[in-house]
Amino acid sequence: MPLTISPLPQEQRGNCPAELSFGSVFTDHMFTQEYSPIVDWHNKKISPYHPFNLDPAAAVLHYGQEIFEGLKAYRNIDGGINLFRPLENFLRFNRSAERMVMPTVDPTSHLDVLKSLIDLDKNWVPDQKDASLYIRPAMIATSPKLGLGAAEDYLHFIIMGPVGPYFKGGFEPVSVYIADEYRRAVVGGVGEAKTGGNYAASLYQSELMAKKGFTQVLWLDAIEGRLIEEVGAMNICFVYEGKQIVTPSLSGSILPGITRDSVLTLAPKLGYEVEEAQLDIHEVLKDIRAGSITEVFGCGTAAVISPVGNLSFKGENYLINDNQPGVVASALYDELTGIQYGKREDPFGWIETVE
Ligand code: PLP
Ligand code: COI
Repeated sequence: MPLTISPLPQEQRGNCPAELSFGSVFTDHMFTQEYSPIVDWHNKKISPYHPFNLDPAAAVLHYGQEIFEGLKAYRNIDGGINLFRPLENFLRFNRSAERMVMPTVDPTSHLDVLKSLIDLDKNWVPDQKDASLYIRPAMIATSPKLGLGAAEDYLHFIIMGPVGPYFKGGFEPVSVYIADEYRRAVVGGVGEAKTGGNYAASLYQSELMAKKGFTQVLWLDAIEGRLIEEVGAMNICFVYEGKQIVTPSLSGSILPGITRDSVLTLAPKLGYEVEEAQLDIHEVLKDIRAGSITEVFGCGTAAVISPVGNLSFKGENYLINDNQPGVVASALYDELTGIQYGKREDPFGWIETVE
């Protein structure tokens, strides 16, 4: 099916603001396409950013049949635009789609329409330091259907917006609360799919702790409440003795983060050892107290590499690296963002340019 592009007249287009926060400003255009079992994907359009007209009985509004992705476009040092490992996002989108009984989207055509959309809105790719264009592909079930079952009709869309750092303090350490009562996802459930319900399940605890000054919640496994899973919007890494990076293995209830995978690939190149392991929270807290864990950091597309300065569990506080960004997190941040912004060599072929 051909892509139809209906651009806004030049004089009605907006500009990228000078001050950027995360996720509240959107570009002039968006991509949409519809799916039905008979026609497959159709009505492929890039059109001005607009609200949807949804039937109040649309399945997504009742049973949460929804998936999304998050990736970024970066203004590179030559003034061009870099995407970071976009096909990984589109492959994960399809894995999430399969888990949520939704149709998949051909990854190459997903990338092609994204490039066309970015090209049209290229003046929105910011050039401020640490800023980028955040890209949010998503799919929702649109069939009006209250009987419980997978929908027939779907809407796939991509919206984009310029963003600054996800956390207000930028690369400053964040304060993390370890959930001891509430759980986010369970093995066998949908934790490894990027679907809205996982995030909805995390809100009650996150909002409660935000009022107490915590930036993020660290989730434990839902069966024993003992194994470390991930943080609200990031995977988590622990640095032992300044040289070994350990992150929870993919249990089935953790999102297989693309930044996590990039850290595991880049760290050995920077001289660090890496390990994926089941991590018991009690052991980890003991290792923080003993000083063998020298740094903790989160990693994710929105959050990039984010040092953790303080963990709190059952009323006890565990200070990490004197609440300062550590050497390992800083080195990984510099290397990763160096590749993303085209300042450092890209030995793994992770960058896809938008021409
Ligand atoms: N874990 C969760 C729950 C997330 O929402 C994210 C962000 O996408 C991540 C981990 C990190 O994944 P990625 O590095 O692919 O952005
Ligand atoms: C991302 O990092 O892209 C995410 O999807 C996390 C989101 C909660 C902002």
